[in-house]
Amino acid sequence: MKFEPNDKPNRATDTMAINIEKLSDAAGAAISGLDLTQELSQEDSDALKQAWRDHMVLLLRGQELTEEEQERFCRTFGEIAGLKSKTSESKFLFVTNKEDPDRATAVQLGEMMYHYDQAYAEHPCKASTLYLIEIPDVGGNTCFANCCAVYDQLSDEWKARLKGKTALNYFNYDTNPSLRPDDIDPEAPQHSHPVIRTHPETGRKSIYVNRLMTIRINEVSKEESDEILHYLFDLIESPQNVYEHVWQVHDLVLWDNRCTAHARQHYDPEKRRLLRRMTILDENPVV
Ligand SMILES: [Fe+2]
Repeated sequence: MKFEPNDKPNRATDTMAINIEKLSDAAGAAISGLDLTQELSQEDSDALKQAWRDHMVLLLRGQELTEEEQERFCRTFGEIAGLKSKTSESKFLFVTNKEDPDRATAVQLGEMMYHYDQAYAEHPCKASTLYLIEIPDVGGNTCFANCCAVYDQLSDEWKARLKGKTALNYFNYDTNPSLRPDDIDPEAPQHSHPVIRTHPETGRKSIYVNRLMTIRINEVSKEESDEILHYLFDLIESPQNVYEHVWQVHDLVLWDNRCTAHARQHYDPEKRRLLRRMTILDENPVV
């Protein structure tokens, strides 16, 4: 069939322009064939959302994006979560190792242990996006752990042991994020959530504890809690459950914060690492 210049391309052709390529056996897919400086069609949005449900972490590489374009991408997945910043009205948080008085910054040095963003809050965000602006030559990778796979790998005995249990999640911004805290500051944010979490869209169960923020299992002794948590932390962080992302400038990464824990690896603190983060509200409670 001859294609006339005034013909509109058909939708099947448009949708086929999206390429989805798995990044690891654990999680993650690279999406190509989209230009995020342009508004997405409904078909492309639907394909993105399905890819996100399937792979939990999406990478869109080589996207040179303004703040408005990153926000428009985020709105594909839900409402934007605000910030509690005293210094900025912006909904963006700049994750960096160098203070910047003109931006709302989370100044963090080096390694950060596995965690879910805002797990210490009653309503943690549904999703996070990070847009890479500057990265040292070596280090600073982000690791993503598929915590649905972790649940699936548990024996029936372990699943029964964890059923109905809750865990206290806590975070003190003043402490070193590469160490588990020894003491709890009662003033620091903290909240208990179920250890087994069910994804409201896929129905999959996942393990919702993490080494950085989960202090204890509430219903058992400290000794048993420590035993359970360290078993789960090790399984979450084992290589078969992790996709390790090596950043490039203009990478945009979106992850499902309900079922994917993430960690930052060590890098040279003298070299600037700068990412622009926007998070998406969860319209559902943690269940
Ligand atoms: Fe984080």
